[in-house]
Amino acid sequence: MISIEHTPRKVRFEQAGAIQKSAIEKPFRPYHCCLDKFYICAIFETMATIKFTFEDKSIAPVTVSDVPADISILEVTEENDIHLNHNCGGVCACSTCHVYIKKGDEYLEEISDKEEDFVDRAINPKLESRLGCQCVILEEDAVIEVEIPDQRRIIGHEH
Ligand code: FES
Repeated sequence: MISIEHTPRKVRFEQAGAIQKSAIEKPFRPYHCCLDKFYICAIFETMATIKFTFEDKSIAPVTVSDVPADISILEVTEENDIHLNHNCGGVCACSTCHVYIKKGDEYLEEISDKEEDFVDRAINPKLESRLGCQCVILEEDAVIEVEIPDQRRIIGHEH
């Protein structure tokens, strides 16, 4: 008989007390498990975690976990009802999706010359400025912190 016991940071498989497997030290999502006579094989898919903070301090920070790779920060905001304007629809042709990447920029697709041009046109650009629609998450175990500029200062649409 197999029992699967897990907490957010640990998983253990046991087969009649004979097989144990543990030591997963970060958030994960199991998506495949098979039993082959004497061995249990498990493959784990880790997921990114994005913490959103807001320049408008009346909005509480939001942490989104279980974010897959290959989607943009803008898409994460859209899927989680976080207000971030995006007038051009996410094609790097405006600067309304401007965000500040506070941590984890190494997990994002590199900034392009075109994106830099539009970042320069954003309100209050800083060194950590990016366009949310161009920040594609590259790694599934990414941990990223994003500050959303005060959207009341930006003329644009949310959805
Ligand atoms: S939505 Fe226009 S550049 Fe991102």
